[in-house]
This record gives sequence, C-alpha cells and structure tokens, in this order.
Amino acid sequence: MMKVLVVGSGGREHALAWKIGQSSLVDTVFVAPGNAGTAIDAENVDISVGDFPALLAFAKQNEIGLTVVGPEAPLCDGLVDAFQAEGLRVFGPNKNAAQLEGSKVFCKNLMRHASVPTADYRVFSDPAEGVRYVNEMFPDLDDNEVPLVVKADGLAAGKGAIVCKTREEVFQAIDLIARDRAFGDAGNQFVIEELLPGEEVSILAITDGKTILTLPPAQDHKRAYDNDLGPNTGGMGAYCPTPQVDKNLVARVEENILVPTVHTMKRGRTPFSGILYAGLMVNAQGVAKVLEYNVRFGDPECQPLLMRLKSDLVEIMLATVDRRLEEIEPLQWDPRPSICVVMASEGYPGSYEKGLPISGLDAAAAIPDVKVFHAGTKLDGETVVTNGGRVLGVTALGDSIADAKRAAYTAVKEIRFPGGWCRKDISDKATGIAIN
Ligand code: AMP
Ligand code: GLY
Repeated sequence: MMKVLVVGSGGREHALAWKIGQSSLVDTVFVAPGNAGTAIDAENVDISVGDFPALLAFAKQNEIGLTVVGPEAPLCDGLVDAFQAEGLRVFGPNKNAAQLEGSKVFCKNLMRHASVPTADYRVFSDPAEGVRYVNEMFPDLDDNEVPLVVKADGLAAGKGAIVCKTREEVFQAIDLIARDRAFGDAGNQFVIEELLPGEEVSILAITDGKTILTLPPAQDHKRAYDNDLGPNTGGMGAYCPTPQVDKNLVARVEENILVPTVHTMKRGRTPFSGILYAGLMVNAQGVAKVLEYNVRFGDPECQPLLMRLKSDLVEIMLATVDRRLEEIEPLQWDPRPSICVVMASEGYPGSYEKGLPISGLDAAAAIPDVKVFHAGTKLDGETVVTNGGRVLGVTALGDSIADAKRAAYTAVKEIRFPGGWCRKDISDKATGIAIN
C-alpha cells in the first residue's frame, strides 16, 4: 500500500485527496497544507506549497510513493524538478514544461510553431512599442472594432488578461502591466491579441508526453455574478459534461490542438507530463481556438470531473509518471452529469473577512450524490470557519444536468455562513433552465 502527498489547499486539492483516498493502491493521503475538508478525508501536514525543502523532507521521511501537485505556482517554480532530482515519483509537469501556463509568450509562440488555432498576437517588452503598434494597426478601435486583450507574460493570479474596448483602455492596460508593474516581473513582456467571440469551455487531458487521454469537456463560470456579469474570479462553478461540445468537436480538439501541442513540446525538449488543460473559445460555427493553457487541473472543473471518474486515479497517475499511459484501460465515467456550485465569502473577489463559522455541512453531506468539497476553510477547534474567498464547492451528480443542479442547490440551501453567497445559474448554459 502506498502513501500519497497532495500539495495545495483549495477545492481542487480536496477533490484530489478524496478521489486518491478511494484508490485500492493507497492507505494514507496527506495534504500540505490542506483545509478543514482535507482534514476529514485525509491528513493535513502544516507545510506551505512554496516550502520545497520541507515538502521534500516530509516525502522522504514518510516514504511517500506519489506526490501530486495541485496549483500552478509550485509547478512553475520547479517543485516537480526538485522531487525528480531526489528520485521521488511526482505527478505534474516540470518547470520547463510548466512554462505553457507560466509564460504567455512561451505558450503563444509554441502554438504558432505547432499551428494550433489561437488568437493572432504580437509580443512586446517595450510599452512604447505596444502603443505604437496599436496606433498603427488599430486606429479605429474606439469605433467598435474587435476589442483587444492585453496579457502580462507571467503568472498574475488570474488578473493578467485585460479586455480592452477602446485604445485608451489598451494604453491603460499596457501602463498597468509594463510601466506600473502591477504584476511585477510578470510584466517584463506582454502580449496583445484580438478578442475571440464565442463560448468558453475547458477540455483537459492527461498525458505522459506520448499518450493523451482526453477527459470529458467541462465549463467553468469565471464571472462573479449571474449571467456572466461582474468581475473575473477564480471560477464560481462548473459542470461536466458540456452538451454544447459534441464528440466531433472533442475529436477535432484532440487532432488540431492537443496532439500537436504535446508533440511540439516533446520536439522542443520540454516534454509535457501531467494534466494539460486547454481553455478554449468555441465560436458560433463550432470552431475551437485556444485562449490559454493551464498545466494542472482546473479549480473548480476538477470537482465535477473527479465526481464522475470511476477509474482508479492513482493507477492513471502512476502510469503517467512512469510513461506507460498507453497501458491504461479506457477511462470509466459515471454517465450521470455533475455540477459544482462555489459558495463564496461576502466581498469576493475583492477583500473579505475570514474566520466566520459555517453551519449545515452535515445536513448538506447527507443528501444523496452530493459531496461538499472545501476550499477556503479551516478548523477553529471543532468549528469549520471560512478562510478564503472561495469557501466551498458543493458538488452533485444527477440523472440529468437539471437534476444535478437541483441536488447541488438543495445542498447549498443547507449551508450557512455570514455573507455567504453563490451564483444561481451554474450549468444554465447547458439547459437554459432557471432554479426555483
Ligand atoms: P488568460 O489569462 O489568457 O487565461 O485569460 C483569462 C481569461 O480572459 C480567459 O479565460 C477568457 O475569459 C479571457 N480571454 C483571454 N484571452 C481572450 C481572447 N483572446 N478572447 C476572448 N477572451 C479572452
Ligand atoms: N477554473 C479555471 C482555472 O482553474 O484556472
């Protein structure tokens, strides 16, 4: 039997720890640093995701057989490389491959090289050159041309892509990224590209660099409020599968996007292993283009995906780490759809209070086919209290998307914390139904 260490503390990591704990290969799951939910379904270890020496020492002392890295920051900072250098098994891309998420310039250049469909773009390091380019190429931007998106090259906690409808807004975005350095060195370079119209979906795949196993399509809800209004967030809910994405589109995404990306990474001596997450824009004609790549499970897409996965996740992850993914049987999925509704703190995605008591978790958990994944929570003595902006991911399976939605929101109604709120329209793009 094997011990597994999950690195991270969000809803994604709770879902990973929960699923990994069901593996017949595993007897103990540790989560560093974890949250109140992982304290119940696994064992928390008080080490932060950035403390590589302490994570390594813990893995060695406790004979960890597999480490799974949840978030992008430690992947981009080389946690996988540090574990591999010590001969430890670790799931996720190394630092070079993680540039696919850590550097927009790397990602866009790779896609151009691989002929992967994506928005046309230019890269700049000098803000004045960016301004000159926009003045020359988009002189009419204020008159309802296609808007532009200005993106900081590096990681910017989801805030580094700024949609601009006017030239003035483009100049402000360039100033923010490249002159004011709002995202620090992430703004050493920036990308200017055209806005793509359509509907956003997430197609994730597991790959060992040779074999690619595509997971069912999911859809996140990035804006804070119903009907996609309000500021951008880390994601307010997700569901899976998305009926808007049919088998043919998945096949085209594999052929035109995932396969050339994985092959080009290999040829470029940055072979990719782990979760490859394509953030796609699908236009009215059903053509998908890549908005961005992530190099890890999406949060919250991970929660409904893993709720539906019937195969042993640890078997799949070990086969990935050992580069024998071609030996794995086709993945088994629960045919029922699932949805995850994120409950957030008052004020999120702006500033919010922490430490507020959460009630009703047991009543919610008692509802059949519901699992409440914790994100920003911690234990204060015996009480579960809020500890972040996205607090819980209430996830449910149902015979239809509408049934799954009903179950999830029934569970949401049981849970209370001061100021707690959620979007009411998660999965409506699939069904067009309203709750209540
Ligand atoms: P990124 O930082 O590249 O992941 O972009 C963050 C979000 O901005 C995406 O999930 C989209 O919602 C939006 N976005 C980025 N680039 C574009 C684009 N070219 N067209 C439309 N939306 C975009
Ligand atoms: N759900 C979006 C992300 O994980 O980046």
